Amino acid sequence: MNSKIKVSVVGGSGYTGVELLRLLIGHPNVIIHEITSRNDAGKLVSEIYPSLRGCLPHYFVDPDKADLKKADLVFFATPNGIAMNYVTDLLENGVKVIDLAADFRIQDVAIWEKWYEMKHSAVKELKSAVYGLPELNREAIKQAQLVANPGCYPTAIQLALIPLIKSNLINTETIIADAKSGISGAGKKTETQFLMSEASENFKAYSLKGHRHLPEIEENLKSISSNNKIKLTFVPHLLPMVRGIHATLYVDCIKDFDPSVIFNDFYKDELFVDVMESGSCPETKSVRGSNVCRLSFYKIPETNRLVILSVIDNLVKGAAGQALQNMNIMMGWPESAGLDLIPLYP
Ligand SMILES: NC(=O)c1ccc[n+]([C@@H]2O[C@H](COP(=O)([O-])OP(=O)(O)OC[C@H]3O[C@@H](n4cnc5c(N)ncnc54)[C@H](OP(=O)(O)O)[C@@H]3O)[C@@H](O)[C@H]2O)c1
Repeated sequence: MNSKIKVSVVGGSGYTGVELLRLLIGHPNVIIHEITSRNDAGKLVSEIYPSLRGCLPHYFVDPDKADLKKADLVFFATPNGIAMNYVTDLLENGVKVIDLAADFRIQDVAIWEKWYEMKHSAVKELKSAVYGLPELNREAIKQAQLVANPGCYPTAIQLALIPLIKSNLINTETIIADAKSGISGAGKKTETQFLMSEASENFKAYSLKGHRHLPEIEENLKSISSNNKIKLTFVPHLLPMVRGIHATLYVDCIKDFDPSVIFNDFYKDELFVDVMESGSCPETKSVRGSNVCRLSFYKIPETNRLVILSVIDNLVKGAAGQALQNMNIMMGWPESAGLDLIPLYP
């Protein structure tokens, strides 16, 4: 626990990058080495992000000028299709990599290339990548050199479904995932739909015909389902708030069981999943700024329908916090190191 490692953040000027910096500054075993940005190269990080004033002496460096191999571990908080161009060199030099984008989340290359509309440039490395959902893959993450940090919707949705699918308790072909995200889920963009006058006091669905997180969820849940079949109706929505994901799952039970027993038993040793009372309603505000997923459920009387509610902070358990959790597991450190965060309220 006393040894420190050097970590670098590629894409340190985006929303998940800055959230990573906030968390890494408080981590007892980490020295931040380099932080990249093309647009802000040469500028003091804390000048661009005053929330970090007094905490970080670093200047942004251009990713092409960064000496990433000098780090022990590199986080990629970049758009899809960037990390895959760096990993071969980094892995060959013994550097561990955690990608917050989707480059290594889907093992089926053809499906990945179809949904991400580009050629995968690191297929060999993809085969060795571990999907970084600790509650599902902790043992494999311990051995991994390359971790694919899950997407934010997939984290909220899968944590709500995994205990039920693993125990073969629900029909896996009729699952409905009705999910909503705060605007920071889209990153630091200047698109019209994310302007305050467009997004505030507004609420809408998007990607009705298919969201890129769908194949990620389906591939992972298939791997744990007894019949290898998952059919999910997934509709994402944009919420007029900055942080938070709220996923409501509707599933059909195929056996009689007490969901409270199933969820509490499955998550009894998990630090970052809070199973609430049946019928309670978790709020996004109750997890804001923390690495916690809060779950609850309600069995609709006289039907076989179970509703599960799952909330996370998209930038923490949905991105940077989960990435730190994965780093802690890869390094053999306590899983909560740097993540002892009480949610912000109000
Ligand atoms: N936002 C969320 O809630 C969330 C949750 C889970 C996962 N993710 C995933 O995490 C990744 C980052 O998301 P974000 O929301 O932080 O995005 P963002 O706010 O748009 O930030 C992107 C970062 O990547 C850098 N970048 C862009 N193009 C690059 C390139 N070609 N080479 C190197 N750096 C480049 C940007 O800085 P420069 O352009 O200045 O270099 C910036 O620092 C995405 O893949 C996203 O899907 C996001």
